Amino acid sequence: MINDLWYKNAIIYCLSVSTYMDADGDGIGDFRGLMNRLDYLQGLGVTAIWLMPFQPSPLRDDGYDVADYYGVDPRYGTLGDFVEFTHGCKQRGIRVLIDLVVNHTSDKHPWFQDARSDPKSQHRDWYVWAKKKPKHADDGVVFPGVQKSTWSYDKLAKAWYFHRFYDFQPDLNTSNPRVQAEILKIMGFWIQLGVSGFRMDAVPFVIAKKGAHVSRPTEQYDMLRTFREFLSWRKGDAIVLAEANVQPKTDLEYFGASGERMQMMFNFAVNQHLFYALATGDSRPLTKAIKATKTTEATAQWGQFLRNHDELDLGRLTTRQRQTVFAAFAPDPNMQLYGRGIRRRLAPMLQGDRRRLELSYSIMMSLPGTPVLRYGDEIGMGDSLHLPERNCARTPMQWSTEPQGGFTKNKKPTLPVISGGAYGFEHVNVAQQRRDPNSLMNWMERMIRTRKEAPEIGWGQFSILQTRTPEVLAIRYDWRNNSVLVVHNFSATPREVRLELGAENSGCLVNLLSRENSDPDASGQHCLILEPYGYRWFRIGGLDYILKRSVT
Ligand code: NOJ
Repeated sequence: MINDLWYKNAIIYCLSVSTYMDADGDGIGDFRGLMNRLDYLQGLGVTAIWLMPFQPSPLRDDGYDVADYYGVDPRYGTLGDFVEFTHGCKQRGIRVLIDLVVNHTSDKHPWFQDARSDPKSQHRDWYVWAKKKPKHADDGVVFPGVQKSTWSYDKLAKAWYFHRFYDFQPDLNTSNPRVQAEILKIMGFWIQLGVSGFRMDAVPFVIAKKGAHVSRPTEQYDMLRTFREFLSWRKGDAIVLAEANVQPKTDLEYFGASGERMQMMFNFAVNQHLFYALATGDSRPLTKAIKATKTTEATAQWGQFLRNHDELDLGRLTTRQRQTVFAAFAPDPNMQLYGRGIRRRLAPMLQGDRRRLELSYSIMMSLPGTPVLRYGDEIGMGDSLHLPERNCARTPMQWSTEPQGGFTKNKKPTLPVISGGAYGFEHVNVAQQRRDPNSLMNWMERMIRTRKEAPEIGWGQFSILQTRTPEVLAIRYDWRNNSVLVVHNFSATPREVRLELGAENSGCLVNLLSRENSDPDASGQHCLILEPYGYRWFRIGGLDYILKRSVT
């Protein structure tokens, strides 16, 4: 296969325009500000931006409550600014993925306003209604503790409407062919304005059958093929990155047995077990998750991540495992959310321990798939736990020691910039780290570069090597006659492991990050000594690998 699948070796960086950079001084980030930071992003080495919702919205769920799918919220700029932005990205070789939030609209969306106004209205059947409160109304809430029900009564409509998420997010009746056609139109619109695809919100719910009589949602997977086909007709290399926190046995339904559905999915299973490994040192459940989510089609790719804009959802761990992760990283109930997750950023979870931060990003960037970084993680930003729900990890980017961290000239930023203490902008900011050769940010830049030069990880076949040490995970990648080996020690103490690489491409190991080589002993094994939380990225067989790279 030719290397056209750009997402197989991409570095994705997710950000929200509202908290990245404010150019007009109103305290809210905007596209002009973001454009001024594209050189920074290019320098960091990211190759794609996942841009969170920026459409007009009452902002009751950080923009995931869209009130107009074809516009830009005036607080962030205009459609003209958006096109300048996608153009600026293209000039720098950066692709743009935007959120596609079509499971639901805002209750302020004109479609919903029309739908509720009259049973005969054009948009009535764009939503999901019931005359009486459905039996299962209190089941399946996504935000327990904050959201009470999935059905609410609308006085004007004199009917109950379905909302998988908050009550101000009425679900679209996605089985309705007219709604489906509109979803395609929305995709077509943004594709025309220069995006390379979509991070599709809440995919299992988008494709679920909805209604008062549905007690267990059934997915209509073929809808995914329709989205994919449409996208490919409009723009051959556009992709969908699906948010679908599902069991590994269902992954194939989302990718499609012959890769005809979603190109990418976030790997929630690996994410949760990775945190378990970080909390306990035991990498065996992580190994299981990596194996269970092995993809079979070359077009299918995982998005590997550590933290994002939501809580770290640990719902797929066993109760014991979840409690162990809570105890390690979120002992205070205020750090936990919805009974299943942690709402903190990574750096404070790891108490700012540089060794563990490096270990975490190193493993994330070398897992089978494409890394997805969260803005601010490159400098080790912290969180504000006094902010409600998930807002604690959505504070403005910290650029410098200027007032408001250089994010805005306004004294009142959209969310308070973290100030004072170990994670305040006075200590943690881009400008200072840029000038410090040993900063986390410069380390990250180097790792991104190393990751891009190891396409074996994004493209290749992986195998997990036996280390006989639960704390040490060793993954080998093979692609086009080239091989890479990554080794991570999750333990707080040093570990010695003996590795057998197998017959092919064996020989010496060359460390890609420091001057270190390893030669096999007489029995063909490599003996590696890893320091506490140590990690290694090796090329197998030496540095003349490019000369050996084959075309298929
Ligand atoms: C998933 C998004 O990641 C989350 O932030 C949002 O609240 C829900 N979908 C509802 O759109």
